[in-house]
Amino acid sequence: MPVAVVILAAGQGSRMKSDLPKVLHKVAHAPLLVHAMRAAQSIEADRIVVVTGHGGAAVAKAATDYDENALIVTQEEQLGTAHAVKQARDVLADFDGDVVVLYGDTPFIREETLQDILSARQSGAGIVVLGFEAAEPAKYGRLVLNAEGGLERIVEAKDASPEQLAITLCNSGVICADRATMFDLIEAVDNKNKSEEYYLTDLVGLARSKGLPCAAITCPEAETLGVNSRVDLAAAEATFQTRARLEAMENGTTLPAPETVHFAYDTYVGRDVVIEQNVVFGPDVTVESGAHIRAFSHLEGCHVSEAAVIGPYARLRPGAEIGGGAKVGNFVEVKAALVGTGAKINHLSYVGDAEIGQDANIGAGTITCNYDGVFKHKTIIGARAFIGSNTALVAPVTIGDDAMTASGSVVTQDAGDGDLAIARAKQVNKTGLALRLMNKLRAAKAAQSKDK
Ligand code: UD1
Ligand code: CA
Repeated sequence: MPVAVVILAAGQGSRMKSDLPKVLHKVAHAPLLVHAMRAAQSIEADRIVVVTGHGGAAVAKAATDYDENALIVTQEEQLGTAHAVKQARDVLADFDGDVVVLYGDTPFIREETLQDILSARQSGAGIVVLGFEAAEPAKYGRLVLNAEGGLERIVEAKDASPEQLAITLCNSGVICADRATMFDLIEAVDNKNKSEEYYLTDLVGLARSKGLPCAAITCPEAETLGVNSRVDLAAAEATFQTRARLEAMENGTTLPAPETVHFAYDTYVGRDVVIEQNVVFGPDVTVESGAHIRAFSHLEGCHVSEAAVIGPYARLRPGAEIGGGAKVGNFVEVKAALVGTGAKINHLSYVGDAEIGQDANIGAGTITCNYDGVFKHKTIIGARAFIGSNTALVAPVTIGDDAMTASGSVVTQDAGDGDLAIARAKQVNKTGLALRLMNKLRAAKAAQSKDK
């Protein structure tokens, strides 16, 4: 059965106290909205519709940046959740399948849970609602079940009787129905309630009055966690990280101190990788099997191949492509550079806009001078080349295979295969001059203190 997902993201989120629309606040480097979109992708949604309102242009951009096929509709006034979903009616008019409604500020709905909802639909429920047992049901809509355990109606807290308020099974907001059922019933929703809003939750009562069976399925409360404040955002980040660390370990990654490692939403880590203490991942990082990321390293937009060793205290920036078995050591920064298989950059270096050949050795303190203040230039270093410590490579420059640079060189010209480039002042030794100079200075100091 084809599935369309409608993500509600029109609310302002005033409790965030922010100029940024709520759904654009980030968890693990991705906007909340993107987390909801990823949930939609996890069930291979054929269409994703994002309902925007507050900060609409920015929200629309974030949605289409992430998925160019996302459909954007606008809810000019926020008149309630049913009114929000109604905005998707036209873009789904020709859609034949199920429609799942998610919230843009609820990032943790798992694929398995969404599959359970779709299965419940397949088993004959006209409408399926995702519920949870709330620790504090306070403000949530309550799921009213009938004697057979079917879902009879949803009552918003504001409109509930004391008896209904005693129900702890609450509405997560996730709801699923066939496209025609969803939009036909929405037409019948009115706003005659305490909030004067068009409640999406009214669909259940309307469906039941037409004899359509409805079902509630449940998930843990943590999964339905919504973000309304900065405190919620921090809690959501913690929830994400806990889940990501567990997943990494379950997939064969060793984390000696899991609570100190921070993943991004899209970090990919292969088997038998070790990630030591206090490693931080920005977006778009892939670490292949057997690699070792040592303590206090920061990685973003990079690819680490099998058995490479990174850090401690290394920084891999976007475009760093580290070859198999290569080593990037302490206080080394690599940006937009290919580091060949088995190459070593062990200490205190900056390598940017470069290609480092296989098994090359980059000495301590080597710097690629890639920027002239306006343009970026490239440094190419051949296979097995040996770059002496404290070499400044003034790009554009090419060092050949098996070539060397003398330590302390400022290299401004290309060096051919097997050449040795020496670009530093020649050393001169003055016999005994150091001692004579020191004696002279000490005598001058002695004369000075006598005068006082
Ligand atoms: C809603 C549910 C409630 C459920 C709770 C779970 C209704 C009537 N109530 O209540 O049963 O327990 O969520 O959190 O559906 N939104 C729009 N446009 C609107 C209104 C809302 O896009 O006109 C979006 C909001 O940005 C938000 C989501 O829909 O992401 C839910 O809206 P909210 O106002 O938070 O609903 P609640 O009153 O919390
Ligand atoms: Ca809410």
